[in-house]
Amino acid sequence: MTNASLSPLLQKLSDRLGPKGFTREPDSMAPWLEDWRKRYHGAAAAMLSPASTEEVADIVRLCSAARVAIVPQGGNSGMVGGATPTAASNQILLSLRRMNAIRTISAESSSAVCEAGVILANLHDAAAAVGRRFPLTLGAKGSATVGGLISTNAGGTQVLRFGTMRGLVAGIEAVLPDGSIFNGLTVLKKDNRGYDLRQLLIGAEGTLGIVTAAALKLVPAVGVRRVAWVGLGSPEAALRLLRAFEDKMGEAVEGFELLPSAALEIVLRYIPGTRAPLDRRCAWNVLIEATAPVGAPDPQPALEQALGDALETGLIEDAMIAASEAQAEALWRIRDSMAEAESKDRQSTKHDISVAVDSMPGFMVEAAAAVERRFPGTSVMAFGHLGDGNVHFNVRAPDGAAPDWLLSEGPATSAYVHDLVTAAGGSLSAEHGIGQARLAELERIGDPTRLRAMAAIKRALDPHGIMNPGKLVPLAEGEGGP
Ligand code: FAD
Ligand code: MLT
Ligand code: ZN
Repeated sequence: MTNASLSPLLQKLSDRLGPKGFTREPDSMAPWLEDWRKRYHGAAAAMLSPASTEEVADIVRLCSAARVAIVPQGGNSGMVGGATPTAASNQILLSLRRMNAIRTISAESSSAVCEAGVILANLHDAAAAVGRRFPLTLGAKGSATVGGLISTNAGGTQVLRFGTMRGLVAGIEAVLPDGSIFNGLTVLKKDNRGYDLRQLLIGAEGTLGIVTAAALKLVPAVGVRRVAWVGLGSPEAALRLLRAFEDKMGEAVEGFELLPSAALEIVLRYIPGTRAPLDRRCAWNVLIEATAPVGAPDPQPALEQALGDALETGLIEDAMIAASEAQAEALWRIRDSMAEAESKDRQSTKHDISVAVDSMPGFMVEAAAAVERRFPGTSVMAFGHLGDGNVHFNVRAPDGAAPDWLLSEGPATSAYVHDLVTAAGGSLSAEHGIGQARLAELERIGDPTRLRAMAAIKRALDPHGIMNPGKLVPLAEGEGGP
């Protein structure tokens, strides 16, 4: 559709939403037209900011009738360009950020019903205020929204104990591609009425509808948390350490994040106010968080004992336990600043891979050696969620690489990494989703049966292809949406 032929639709949308909900102002739209990593740059016919589910439904009905594509957006912190429209200026950017009410929250129900635009950090605060906790957390908690977290089935740093977003969603309200409202907010522990539309919408990246609200599960508040930083020699030692902790401390261990020394170095270089936790520089580092609910025994003695045993047997080289909450926060800041530090560092290709947890240490070492052999001068910096079998396996450009290295060499390095992961039975997207960044690769190496089923679901629910076309679902030519 040409921009001129969009005029009647834009007029109707503007009339329906008013000035607070409709803009075509280039300056207002600009920050939302490129992704967090600044890899994708789009344009939009207008940016809409509805204030209610009914407004979202009207927007979708109008766009569906006009066959105009909608790109839903929350905090725009996604890592795969899923919330960035194409450059053609003929798509509608639909921001859910104004829908930021927490409709209900209580300790008794141990749940919260949040609109899609609620920012994760605000949900954390609201849960704490009623004496509970929403356990999922990640570095972008100050901007990522409930709708975006659901639509990417986000993971983060406490998956080890609490799982991904998929397990924390009890109900969903959404607007489907024909403009109808699906009210799946009622929390039923048992419900066997067939296909689970809620689960289908989780991780759908806005391709099957727009999440407008969700009922989320809360867990008991943290009474005390202990955070330790450990230096050790290899990912294999790290996994053995995790298993030793699990044996000794059970479910108390909820965070276990792995960082190579190169990752620590870039954080110290680019993130002001960060300090190395240990005097000794070790090849690998692990951040461990152990928690106990209110009234339960402090995990500190068990943590000290487990670390002491590991030092004695030579499994680890050095360790410290944060002496205060401020020190604990400082350790987490190092971990949570990885993405930002990387964005300031040299060019690199980013991968979000998973293999079976027990295969990951071996995979990390062998795959890094293979990549560095195949692409001389590059270096692999793999970090993250070892206990989930998920690391961000990033390939850094050689010293003195050309400014266009990412464009010229990036695709070949990514294909190589993804082939290695696939050969190991793993996934090319563990937690960030597919978006536009991984679509071609999914199409290249994804299981054809699974891809055909995904395309069939997409066609059935979104026959005009108006919901976030060009993201997540590889479609045949001519089916890619308006
Ligand atoms: P957006 O980026 O706005 O959108 C993401 C996708 O969801 C897009 O496809 C968009 O179209 C769709 N979408 C958004 N809202 C809706 C809605 N209401 N209905 C339908 N579709 C919608 N991710 C992890 O999993 N683990 C991490 O540890 C992690 N750490 C991060 C650290 C940093 C510093 C940053 C910048 C990002 C990190 N991320 C991580 C990625 C990101 O935070 C998550 O993908 C998050 O879920 C995105 O939320 P958002 O609101 O910003 O979504
Ligand atoms: C993380 O684990 O830090 C995030 O997923 C972001 C990233 O991959 O850089
Ligand atoms: Zn991650």
